[in-house]
Amino acid sequence: MFTNKTFVLTGASGGIGSEITKSLAEQGATLVLIGLNRNELDQLNQSIGGQHHIIEADISTTEGRDTIFQYCQQLNQGIDTLINNAGIGQFSLFQDMDDDHIAAIININLTSTILLSQKLLPILLSRPESHIINIGSILGSIGFPGSSVYCASKFGIRGFTEALRRELADTAVSVSYFAPRATNTAINNESVIAMNRELGTQMDNPEQVAKQFIRFINSSQSHYYLGWPEKLFVRINSVLPSIVDKSILKQLPIIKRYL
Ligand SMILES: NC(=O)c1ccc[n+]([C@@H]2O[C@H](COP(=O)([O-])OP(=O)(O)OC[C@H]3O[C@@H](n4cnc5c(N)ncnc54)[C@H](OP(=O)(O)O)[C@@H]3O)[C@@H](O)[C@H]2O)c1
Repeated sequence: MFTNKTFVLTGASGGIGSEITKSLAEQGATLVLIGLNRNELDQLNQSIGGQHHIIEADISTTEGRDTIFQYCQQLNQGIDTLINNAGIGQFSLFQDMDDDHIAAIININLTSTILLSQKLLPILLSRPESHIINIGSILGSIGFPGSSVYCASKFGIRGFTEALRRELADTAVSVSYFAPRATNTAINNESVIAMNRELGTQMDNPEQVAKQFIRFINSSQSHYYLGWPEKLFVRINSVLPSIVDKSILKQLPIIKRYL
């Protein structure tokens, strides 16, 4: 149970964020729900009893991050956990992407996540025990065609998590990494869903991801990868990437048909 614990969650009204919200609320947590759309956040808050905090803020702006900091700073109970979940996806050939698309993926998924973590760190350091949890992806460990810049952002957040965990190891702040595999949410368009069906790539429901997330935060693990065979591929890719190169090469004609 998380009674008396306060979780700050970005991307709260998204597919995975809203299910994590419901699961944490069921366990008695207090939530600070952050998103771009107040109506969606209000509806989510109502669905979990209406007692929680809402911040309409864009994490990719200084103003948005300042708003989040000021709100969290004045909370009497402080904050115990920051969950960096907000993110945007990509399913496009690298050569077709324009500057703004590339910059937005790196900005939201990586730079802004890092900047928000830094902004809230003094509050987290003032607590007897606190946590930063970064939502990564299986694609933060395996480069996949059509996701080049998304992979760059998620590989980056995995590296950031590992380094910050080691830097803060002598403080009360733990830093961990939670990596879902493909999940049925709005981040994946129809082409991704159809491609995954043809490739035989399983997609989780966000409810399953939230269940695993609760299991993860109740464990003392610093990183957590969802799904077989994905967990195995992550390991193989780290020691023998040429095997994964060959396997993805076989899939490439199918992938390119959907791109
Ligand atoms: N679904 C998958 O296959 C999958 C797999 C592995 C990892 N993940 C990761 O899981 C996390 C959640 O994704 P999801 O699948 O739940 O996607 P989603 O349904 O699209 O949710 C993403 C959330 O992030 C919010 N967001 C985007 N830009 C933001 C910004 N600048 N400031 C504040 N909030 C912003 C979105 O708000 P709006 O809805 O208002 O735009 C939305 O609530 C992401 O980090 C994603 O990379 C997803």
